[in-house]
Parts: sequence; C-alpha cells; structure tokens
Amino acid sequence: MKTRLCRVLVCLLAGSFAATVASVATAASTAAAPSVSSAVVPAETPQQKAARMRWWTDARFGMFIHWGLYSVPAGEWQGRRDLSEWFMDQTGMPRAQYAQFARRFNPTKYDPDEWVRIAKDAGMKYIVITAKHHEGFVMWDTRGTDYNIARRTPYGRGVLAPLAAAARRAGLHFGTYYSIMDWHDPSQSPAEPGKHYNPTRMNPKLKSAYIAEMKLELTELIRETHTEVLWFDGEWMDWWTDADGRDLYAFLRRLDPKLIINNRIGRTRGKYGVNQGAGVGDFGTPEQQIPPQGYPPGVYWESCMTLNDHWGYNKYDDHWKSPTTVVHNLVDIASKGGNYLLNIGPTAEGVLPPGGVAVLRQVGRWMHANGVSIYGTSASPFPQAFPWGRVTRAPGLLYLHVFDWPTRHELRLPFTGAVHRAYLLTAPNHALEMRTMPGGISVKLPAEAPDDMDSVIVLEVADATAQTSGATAAAGY
Ligand code: GLC
Repeated sequence: MKTRLCRVLVCLLAGSFAATVASVATAASTAAAPSVSSAVVPAETPQQKAARMRWWTDARFGMFIHWGLYSVPAGEWQGRRDLSEWFMDQTGMPRAQYAQFARRFNPTKYDPDEWVRIAKDAGMKYIVITAKHHEGFVMWDTRGTDYNIARRTPYGRGVLAPLAAAARRAGLHFGTYYSIMDWHDPSQSPAEPGKHYNPTRMNPKLKSAYIAEMKLELTELIRETHTEVLWFDGEWMDWWTDADGRDLYAFLRRLDPKLIINNRIGRTRGKYGVNQGAGVGDFGTPEQQIPPQGYPPGVYWESCMTLNDHWGYNKYDDHWKSPTTVVHNLVDIASKGGNYLLNIGPTAEGVLPPGGVAVLRQVGRWMHANGVSIYGTSASPFPQAFPWGRVTRAPGLLYLHVFDWPTRHELRLPFTGAVHRAYLLTAPNHALEMRTMPGGISVKLPAEAPDDMDSVIVLEVADATAQTSGATAAAGY
C-alpha cells in the first residue's frame, strides 16, 4: 500500500533525476503553502490566449482514448455486462484483487502508428489518451508509483511516448487525460467504505505528498511525451479545492507555457461543463452533450462523447453511433464554435474495436471531401439553428451544411449581405442560381442531395459576420 509514497520519497531524496526532482520539490513546497494566488499563472491577453489555443481551435476534431486495466475484464464480471472504466467502483473489488488484472494486460497487438492512421483517416487532428484514470493505474513508466504498466504488466513498457511519437510523425497533436481522484493511492479511501470507491476521502496527512506525486507524474508526462493538452477529470471530491486547481494550473503552465488545460482541473465546471471563464482552466468540457447555443468569443469548449455507450472497452457494446450522427454532431459543434473529442476504448491486446473503426472510416470519407468547412472555421453568424442543418464560417465564406435536403429544392437563408457566388463544396465550378428575397436569399439546389450525410453549399460573401436579417421560419426561412 505504501509503495507509491515511498517511491515518491525515494525519488525526492535520492535526487535520481535532478531536473524533475527540482521542480517537484518546488511543487511540494508550493502545495504546502497556505494560499497560492492565481497571479503566478503567466499573464496573458485574450489575443495571446487565442494564439496559444490556435492549433486546438483550428483542429475541431480529436480522438479520445480510454485505456487501462479495466480493458482486461472488458466490461464483464460475475454476470454483469455493463461495466467499463468504472469497473473497480461498480464491482467494489478490493484493490489488491483489481491490481491482478495488470498481469493480464499485454497489448502485443498495440501499433501506435495504426491507431494514429485510424484517427487521421477519420479527419481527427489530435489524440487525447488516458495516462491515469480513476483506477490509479499509470500507463507510462513513471517514477511516481510502481503501480504502472512498465512494472506490473508482462508488456513491461509504457504506451504513451510511442503514441505521442506516432502522432507527431503523422502531423497530429498529442494530449493526455489524468484523473485527480485515485482509487488505488493510499492517500485516498472510499468515502463510503464497503460500497463504492467514488468519491474518495483524503487522509489529510497524505494530501501534500499525493499532490507532489501528481506534480512529479505530470512533469514526466510533459517532459517525456510533450503532451500538448492536459485533460483532467475526477476533480469532484470534497478534498480537491479550486485553489488546488489554480495552484496546479500555474505549476503546469510554468513548466510549459504552451500547454492547454481543461477546466476540470478546478471545481467550477459550470452549466454544460462550460464555466465561461469563471473558473480555472482553458476550455469547458460538456460531456455526452452539445450545448444548445454557442458562446461569446474567448470561451473555448470541447464536447467529449463516446462512440458507443462506454468510454473504456466493453466487449458487449456494439451500439456504435452512425457515421451520420457523428458528422452531424461534429458540424453542430463546429457551428457553435466548439471542438468534438470522440472516444474509442481499445482492447487489452491493443486493438481498436473494428465496429468503431468502420464508423470512423465513413466519417473520414466525408471529412476528406468536406473538411475545409470544419477545420479553422468559426461559429455560425446566425443566432438560430436551421431545421435543414447548420452553418459554419470562414473569412469571406459561409458553409451551409444541409442535413435534410429541402423537398422544394431551394434553400432560403436570412442573410442580406452581398453574395458573390454559391456552389456545392464538391462541385466548385458549377455555380448555383440565387435570387434575393425580402430579408434574405434563396439558392436553387439540384434535385438530389449529393451527400446523404451532409451536403455542403458554399456562399462567397463580402462579409460573413454581418447582415443576418433575423428573419425566421415563420417568414419562410
Ligand atoms: C466521466 C467519467 C469518466 C470519463 C469521463 C470522460 O467523468 O467519470 O469515466 O473518463 O467522464 O469525460
């Protein structure tokens, strides 16, 4: 039980890796300080933040990967078939027994280049993988605890740095998920003993050592994988305070000023998971949902969602979203100025489930032809969502994403600015006829929808932001 703490202390005392220890030692003393002001966060103007967030906002679409010891039971235990990454909590299995799954975690089929190729072919621009989920098992060769993949599994080595390297070779960005709550660490115990592990209760004597260990591990992640996103979760226990989140945020941004960190590092997720700048963290995290409306400029958010019904691998779960649902979600999110982080749970052998991969392949087919209407775009200038689909915008361009092809073969848009040209994104040389109407325009459409998921019509406009007339469905729009 004490192994993890001892390891941290041994590392700290032995000074076996000088640079990391130096920052962790600082971290430990910072953590012990009575109050840590947010002033230590590097100062940043909204423009500087926009520049830091640029690759991420342009990317719009990423792959989330939940991989850990829970992949071994693959969702099943004693007649139950609904389990996944919360296995330990849901079954109440003793720590020592759960830890035995490590002996069967041997991802001999793990091919990071293949995973990256699947993500890239789907049109995804970044990957965020679980470095440590609530179970507490660490997926790289950390010095923070021996409860890690390199020490406890037959595989005997970490899986994150190879994925980071493969992602970069393919031009994708790399990020990591890290749970603050830890069901294995001796600092924490179930708040309701004998029932569930969640939420944990903290032994106050061990809190600063645990935070030091977190900082050590996160420092390793930054140095060894150059993680560009830190995606926190499991922040909802009483013992984790907003001040703890601010301190950790400042610590991490000082280590790497370019880092992008989600809002679950602090305690203020806010409605739809988007705290709109009220709390710590760079972006909001709606989970399994898409906010009904977009947000003012400067509010960053990312909807995370499962591709089937579980985050981690569940061998019975074949309930994959259709490619159309995924494309519509992505477009809906982009039309509101957000990102889409779509999750897949690999098997313990290291294979991405073929059912999910097949869906991603179809999504990729659409993205290959239409990605320009997603990447680097901004939110629709129209306050309303349209019954036929959604709108995204780029300088001088409006992209009309038509989900439901109008039976009258014309599309009406309450836009009163100058429109130079209209065409299908996939047939740019063929101009579509247009006419102006009171309060907007009408574009003549071909009889058949060219794409049954989403046909994109491009409008070349003088100013994509201005001159939305506010005319409504009642007025024929
Ligand atoms: C929830 C779950 C967790 C999952 C996460 C993804 O917080 O606790 O299992 O990793 O959502 O957003």
